[in-house]
Amino acid sequence: MSNIVWQQHQIDRTTREAQKQQQAVVLWFTGLSGAGKSTVANALEQALVGVGAHTYLLDGDNVRHGLCADLGFSEAERSENLRRVGAVSALMVDAGLIVLSAFISPLRSQRDSVRAALPTGKFIEIYVATSLEVCEQRDVKGLYQKARRGEIPHFTGISDPYEAPLNADIVLDTNQLSLSESVEQLLQLLQSRGIIQLPIQS
Ligand code: ADX
Repeated sequence: MSNIVWQQHQIDRTTREAQKQQQAVVLWFTGLSGAGKSTVANALEQALVGVGAHTYLLDGDNVRHGLCADLGFSEAERSENLRRVGAVSALMVDAGLIVLSAFISPLRSQRDSVRAALPTGKFIEIYVATSLEVCEQRDVKGLYQKARRGEIPHFTGISDPYEAPLNADIVLDTNQLSLSESVEQLLQLLQSRGIIQLPIQS
């Protein structure tokens, strides 16, 4: 990055946040494949839009069709996948958005790198802690069966590691909570952090 100088623009994140009446933040959903990351993120985004928030949902399965279509699942390729989506998330935070990012992001170091690429306090770690047993039983995409047969190398939880967060901002077990309970818990968290203002319940 030599010979490249950062340009300071007049309209910055705080201006955009004020315009949108919200705090920009990354809601980072981590967990095993099939844990429910996308489902919860999708339902939370609907709820947030319903209260007037400005959002964007970045999802591993979708991003890997475009921005990261050239990447596989080795440790180095996952790290590059997460570096790119971390950078995109950071740009979207600069744009004043509440960004919901749903990626397995199996290693603590990978998630810490995303956190480090964001302004302090802008990374909220949501651990979707559904157990491997339950994810494998659900096997919505049939990938666990394939992985057990040895047809998918480096499959998280089967032939590749998953490091659970040690200090997540919130832990959701989709086997214990209904979808609306998970969404409710997340909305309460966002309100308690001053990220959104929910309408007062009568
Ligand atoms: S990450 O590890 O780099 O964060 P990401 O969230 O983008 O992963 O993609 C995970 C999705 O890719 C899974 O939901 C699953 O559908 C699919 N997938 C394909 N191969 C693998 C694999 N080896 N391990 C985990 N998920 C895989």
